Amino acid sequence: MTVSDPVEDIVATISRSATEIRQGLVGRRGKADEENPSGETQAEADVWADDLLAERLSSIDGVSQYASEERAEIIDCDDDGLSVAVDPLDGSSNLKSNNTMGTVFGIYDEPLPAPGTALVAAGYVLYGPITTMVYARDGTVTKYELTGGERTVVEHDVTLPDDPITYGFGGRVPDWPADFEAYVREVEANPQHKLRYGGAMIGDVNQVLTYGGIFAYPALEDSPNGKLRLQFEGNPIGYVIEAAGGRSSNGEYSILEVEATDLHQRVPVHVGNTSLIDRLEAALA
Ligand code: F6P
Repeated sequence: MTVSDPVEDIVATISRSATEIRQGLVGRRGKADEENPSGETQAEADVWADDLLAERLSSIDGVSQYASEERAEIIDCDDDGLSVAVDPLDGSSNLKSNNTMGTVFGIYDEPLPAPGTALVAAGYVLYGPITTMVYARDGTVTKYELTGGERTVVEHDVTLPDDPITYGFGGRVPDWPADFEAYVREVEANPQHKLRYGGAMIGDVNQVLTYGGIFAYPALEDSPNGKLRLQFEGNPIGYVIEAAGGRSSNGEYSILEVEATDLHQRVPVHVGNTSLIDRLEAALA
């Protein structure tokens, strides 16, 4: 008899849905005429992908909550069990220019909003030239290719390369606090480092996981918590990068330790090689 594993059921459902989400982007590149709970204009595809994932994930046995960046309220399901937080289409402003986007997910064993320490698994789908999934559970990161709903392992035990290469920082440069800008100039001064920035967190983080380096969407002068959301973006990405041997930080300490007070709260996000994040924290102290 096979024992059911809700975490595996959730990840398998997201894997199967990813191929459909990718195909469903065609013809859904317009605006939805709505704003998400963070006040950003939604794309038709944001709303569509959220509805699709909400329906499928909330009906899995062992899922007690579904929440998404695209809806104000949590969907409470009947079961006691896990909470799934999803950014259905991360970087959807890249739809118009047909550039990389992703789907991010975090699976928590506490009711939302929950801290990253309550994550039992997290990962993301990257809609690049190839659809891939990176998934972390029990301190191990695995990379898959997704074709026709099937998940094929392409790399076991993914870890950040030791010698960091790429860096990418979000937000307008004039809005960066002076200490963060000074840190960026230091990173840029290293001849081994190269700028890689595509404007979708998942694409930019995946560069860091592949080549080593740092991605940040920092605190900004008029937005001290930056732009990215803790439940749907900061925690899942922090969990993946930490499981891959790197570090995450809100500028002071691990993103996973940040207190969760609000479903849609924002958090400054810095992830990458330990040496670069340690130095960042020293620079911002
Ligand atoms: O939160 C969505 C997102 O598109 C991220 O994927 C990305 O890092 C960020 O916003 C880019 O935002 P902006 O172009 O407004 O700086």
